[in-house]
Amino acid sequence: MKMSVLPCCNSRKALSLIRLMLLLIVAFSLRLINGNFKGFDCCFWEGVECDHNTGYVISLNLSKSCLHGSINSSSALFRLVHLEKLNLVFNNFSYSEIPSALGNLSRLTYLNLSYSLFAGQIPFAISKLSKLSTLDLSLNFAGVNPSEGLLELKRPDMKSLVQNLTSLTYLDLSLVDVSSSIPSVMANFSSLTSFSCHNCKLFGKFPGAIFNLPNLELLEVSRNYDISGYLPEFYFGSQLKELSIWMTNFSGQVPASNGNLHSLEFLALSHCKFVGLVPPSLGNLTKITHLGLENNSFRGVVPSFLSNFTNLKFLALGHNQFRASEIPSSLDKLIHLESSISRLKNLQYLDLNSNNLSRLVELNTILELKNLEFLRLSNNKLSVLSKTSANASLPKLVKLRLASCNLPSFPDFLRNQEGLQILDLSFNHIHGHMPKWLWEMSKETLLLINLSHNSLTNFEEPPLVLPWTNQIRINIGNNMLQGSLPIPPLSTAVYLVSNNSLGGEISPLLCKVSSLQVFDLSYNNLSGMIPQCLANFSNSLAILNLYANNFYGPIPGTWKSGNNLHLINLGRNKSSSKLKNWKLKILILRSNGFHGTIGAPESDFVFPELHIIDLSNNEFTGFLPSEYFKTWNAMRNLSAESLTYMHSIGIVVSVEYNYKYGSVHNYSMTLTNKGVNMEFTQVSDVFTIIDLSSNRVQGEIPDSIGNLEGLQVLNLSNNFLVGQIPPVIGSLSNLEALDLSRNKLVGRIPWQLRQLNFLAVFSVSHNHLTGPIPQGGQFNTFDNSSFDGNLGLCGNSP
Ligand SMILES: *[C@@H]1O[C@H](CO)[C@@H](O)[C@H](O)[C@H]1NC(C)=O
Ligand SMILES: *[C@@H]1O[C@H](CO)[C@@H](O)[C@H](O)[C@H]1NC(C)=O
Ligand SMILES: *[C@@H]1O[C@H](CO)[C@@H](O)[C@H](O)[C@H]1NC(C)=O
Ligand SMILES: *[C@@H]1O[C@H](CO)[C@@H](O)[C@H](O)[C@H]1NC(C)=O
Ligand SMILES: *[C@@H]1O[C@H](CO)[C@@H](O)[C@H](O)[C@H]1NC(C)=O
Ligand SMILES: *[C@@H]1O[C@H](CO)[C@@H](O)[C@H](O)[C@H]1NC(C)=O
Ligand SMILES: *[C@@H]1O[C@H](CO)[C@@H](O)[C@H](O)[C@H]1NC(C)=O
Ligand SMILES: *[C@@H]1O[C@H](CO)[C@@H](O)[C@H](O)[C@H]1NC(C)=O
Ligand SMILES: *[C@@H]1O[C@H](CO)[C@@H](O)[C@H](O)[C@H]1NC(C)=O
Repeated sequence: MKMSVLPCCNSRKALSLIRLMLLLIVAFSLRLINGNFKGFDCCFWEGVECDHNTGYVISLNLSKSCLHGSINSSSALFRLVHLEKLNLVFNNFSYSEIPSALGNLSRLTYLNLSYSLFAGQIPFAISKLSKLSTLDLSLNFAGVNPSEGLLELKRPDMKSLVQNLTSLTYLDLSLVDVSSSIPSVMANFSSLTSFSCHNCKLFGKFPGAIFNLPNLELLEVSRNYDISGYLPEFYFGSQLKELSIWMTNFSGQVPASNGNLHSLEFLALSHCKFVGLVPPSLGNLTKITHLGLENNSFRGVVPSFLSNFTNLKFLALGHNQFRASEIPSSLDKLIHLESSISRLKNLQYLDLNSNNLSRLVELNTILELKNLEFLRLSNNKLSVLSKTSANASLPKLVKLRLASCNLPSFPDFLRNQEGLQILDLSFNHIHGHMPKWLWEMSKETLLLINLSHNSLTNFEEPPLVLPWTNQIRINIGNNMLQGSLPIPPLSTAVYLVSNNSLGGEISPLLCKVSSLQVFDLSYNNLSGMIPQCLANFSNSLAILNLYANNFYGPIPGTWKSGNNLHLINLGRNKSSSKLKNWKLKILILRSNGFHGTIGAPESDFVFPELHIIDLSNNEFTGFLPSEYFKTWNAMRNLSAESLTYMHSIGIVVSVEYNYKYGSVHNYSMTLTNKGVNMEFTQVSDVFTIIDLSSNRVQGEIPDSIGNLEGLQVLNLSNNFLVGQIPPVIGSLSNLEALDLSRNKLVGRIPWQLRQLNFLAVFSVSHNHLTGPIPQGGQFNTFDNSSFDGNLGLCGNSP
């Protein structure tokens, strides 16, 4: 729900309405309390209902009444003691608490406080309203995303709240932070027809008897990751229409008796731990409109009974181990998948992503599902045929994902496709040129296009500027594209063109694309000066990857402090310059022509959030930056924070640092933009790395290195370092790789290094070290090459 759903009250109108309401209420209650109701009949006011005989107000509906602020417990409202129904939804109670004076309204049977911006603990007083039949406290949340609720139910907890509310027929606590298990007493609420507690932080075992409450029609406890349980045997005659337990820890098999739920319309079991076959008896549930089995471990053939489900609108079977037919890839047995699916004429959502479906799929069959809005067949072993009849299209299709579908060319029907927002054809075998009709297809609606990992070679008609008007993410990386870099539309946030053969200089038109957040040009043949205008993107640009091109010239010099740049990779170019940046988290300048000293930090030059610095293979001189070691706070402790550190601006970047090859050669990220969650690949570990190897750094290794307790990789190899190895390195307890080889270090290897329990890679070769090699710990695992080329090292190195 968006706040904009709240009636848009201009503040003056709102104020007067509230006054009016309050006056009204005071008027009511005074008269009621005085027992004198004649002459001022307010029972005709909209939203007010009175008892015809007594004149008492019995129902008050103040929904969407622009109420805001808190309700004072001494408000006249609470003197309407005959009230049976109270509805305050869609108001703005400004994060105030639910007034406990509600407990005075002991005749209440209906209380609806959803969507009203109440916050804090739900008062105990509610538990005294033992006549309550309907209690809706759901969806009190701030902001636009209903992810975190404002209300909590802890003291009292859910058990004490509901134990006396035995007449409840309807209970909705969605988004209330309950943080407990579901009280087993609820299994005795025989009148209950509807129970919802979506995203309530429930845990513990779900009381199975609730499923079989005789009147239950709706059970919704989705997105409670820690609640566990099994589906029980269901009895014939159950009233259940909606069963929604997705994103929970439910496990086990779906019992055959699930087929007894003849009223079932909505079955959502996605993202749980279910296993086994889907029982054929489910084919009896012909009223089903929504079937979500995604992300479990279901196996077997895609159930053929799907064709019974002629009302089906939503079908998600992705991320299981379904197969397409008994005999995979046998053409005579083409049957099931298509024939069952082609009968689902009402289908709007079809997701078969990531199963073990292997066979040919005729897109023509699917093109008959004219209501489809979402289609995903990605990541199976399907061979989707791209030939489709001329003029075919899916008029309502918005999202199409056919990654890894063995497509040999662009599916024909795309030419006619209007209104697409997402198009993913990555990891196929599409070769040749990018046809020019692609520039016209869904030109105004397309938000996201992924054509990466194909064999595209060029543009049929090279566009200087890609024509889509609403693009936010374009990925044409990992192809064989030649020619110059097409400039993305002005609205682009993510532009990935890495691993192609694009050449030449970047057109100055790029300077207009100021919304760029992620820009990856790595592994191309692009040349010329690094576009200096990138400095002007400093509020948006978060990731800039120019790795392995032929750029030269200074790094754009004016990146301001407070900008968003998290990762800059200028490795393997010809650039050289100084760089100033505050919030930088990853800095990769390896293999350039950088020279000069790594000086002492100036006040605006401290990189407190730096996690990875790779300046290797340059011509840096001077001493190790011991002052920096005191300011690189992010390298100090490796906490959960380090995993979430990229979340700050909605971008998660994980860097896969392979220290064996000494390069950051891969990164992946999830980008949340305009509500669209775009996942590139999975987020792996976040590393903390210092690589200053192969420069001309001189002097001693400063003791301040001991501050960087979170450090995992330290590579100072191939420099001119002198003096002893500081024993304090033994306290860098997260160190996994330590390379001090090829320097001029003297003295002994400090025994303290034995304390490094995670050290997997170690080298001090080619120095002037003497004395015994420490024994024990990880040292038993290093071979001679770690110590080679030192004159005076001795000991029984293994
Ligand atoms: C509630 O209203 C009474 C009377 O107007 C006032 O004295 C009291 O301070 C108010 N309480 C709160 C919490 O605003
Ligand atoms: C409470 O109000 C909301 C918003 O109008 C509505 O969606 C919900 O169905 C209501 N709850 C009950 C039990 O009527
Ligand atoms: C519940 O009801 C019982 C009996 O009606 C009463 O004794 C008890 O105080 C009530 N508990 C709460 C929490 O209201
Ligand atoms: C449910 O009701 C039965 C019968 O009244 C009673 O014996 C049982 O204790 C109740 N269960 C709970 C959990 O309150
Ligand atoms: C339910 O499905 C099973 C297995 O498909 C079938 O044998 C049974 O007759 C069906 N029951 C009803 C009532 O449709
Ligand atoms: C549904 O499908 C099953 C298995 O394919 C079949 O046996 C059954 O008769 C069908 N039920 C109905 C009600 O169509
Ligand atoms: C996928 O199907 C093949 C046979 O087509 C089978 O050998 C393989 O084990 C299946 N994989 C999974 C994960 O089910
Ligand atoms: C940055 O933007 C300013 C103002 O729009 C402009 O004058 C300047 O030339 C731009 N800098 C670069 C390097 O493009
Ligand atoms: C350290 O850097 C050197 C030179 O850049 C490289 O050869 C070596 O493999 C790196 N050591 C580790 C442990 O990554």
